Amino acid sequence: MIQRDTSTTKRLLSADVSNSKDEANVFENTLRPQTLSEYIGQDEVKKNLAVSLQASKKREEPLEHALIHGPPGLGKTTLANIMAREMGVNIRVTSGPALEKQGDVASIITNLRDKDILFIDEIHRLKPAVEEVLYTAMEDFGIDLIIGKGPSARSMRLQLPKFTLIGATTKMSMLSAPLRDRFGLIFRLDFYKEAQLQTIIERSATILNCSIDQQASRLVAASARQTPRIANRLLRRVRDFAEVNDAKVITVEIVEKAFDDLGIDPLGLDSLDRNILNTIIDKFQGGPVGLNTIAAAVSEEQDTVEDIYEPYLLKLGFLERTPRGRTVTQLAYRHLGIPTPNTLI
Ligand SMILES: Nc1ncnc2c1ncn2[C@@H]1O[C@H](COP(=O)(O)OP(=O)(O)O)[C@@H](O)[C@H]1O
Ligand SMILES: [Mg+2]
Repeated sequence: MIQRDTSTTKRLLSADVSNSKDEANVFENTLRPQTLSEYIGQDEVKKNLAVSLQASKKREEPLEHALIHGPPGLGKTTLANIMAREMGVNIRVTSGPALEKQGDVASIITNLRDKDILFIDEIHRLKPAVEEVLYTAMEDFGIDLIIGKGPSARSMRLQLPKFTLIGATTKMSMLSAPLRDRFGLIFRLDFYKEAQLQTIIERSATILNCSIDQQASRLVAASARQTPRIANRLLRRVRDFAEVNDAKVITVEIVEKAFDDLGIDPLGLDSLDRNILNTIIDKFQGGPVGLNTIAAAVSEEQDTVEDIYEPYLLKLGFLERTPRGRTVTQLAYRHLGIPTPNTLI
């Protein structure tokens, strides 16, 4: 069994975004699809979006405000950029936490042109006062400013360009209803199928100018936790490994060796995933046990376990949520090679 843990492996599989200036991010940007036809999978989303894009262009109106939600690494930022490109407009990118004051919103939007897109990432993290000015900005393309102080203060409406707001969030449940209701388009991104990830990996390999055979790309796809960002990161690691070993083509053998080195198993579980499962089994008799207790036992933040690790373990059917906490399933025992306790059989 693989029992290594390095922070690199953790970041490789976590699907969260890295620091915007680093090399990993430049890498990610070069692999971003530029058009809707290059965007793999998410067929339902693409179909609905294509209709809206066409209708808006025909009417020569801005695209309706759009909200994109789904787990990290599934293509929210990519989709927002594609929408701008397909509309032929500029996109201005910011994030919920970066907008500190109402004035920040006013100054960004007044600098846009008609139909331009304002993209707010992590839109569930807006301050209430900032969110409030967005309401009138989205609805009436105006912002009410208070001019002066005391009895002579008066309100003035600032007219804004007819922009489109695109919001992205990993936590739909944390979005307030009034904000959510102001989006005409709501797109939910789903996890990707293995075949789709394989296509993404092969496309990325072409862009990176490296050869990978089909069985090898399937193996990488299987470990990518159903997430394009992770698929691309794994490909990059495997490519490095091939280069160091003077291999011209990435084969199954190369992938297996690279994954073994990185402590990644065939389902894409890393040592923290296994640690979570083993901890519940060893210390809590397989559960049920509360998430905060699990997080403390594996020395991780509760948010990290909940947002990054747990969803995939639930998806694999290795963990189950019960009213009294999390339980490890028979499938997980089998994957870990641990005899299943009688209570589960
Ligand atoms: N549908 C897709 N087809 C091809 N590549 C994709 C797709 N979705 C995401 N990717 C790739 O995955 C990476 C992460 O996507 P991103 O849009 O940044 O995810 P998010 O904003 O949801 O966290 C990008 O580099 C992009 O190349
Ligand atoms: Mg993003």
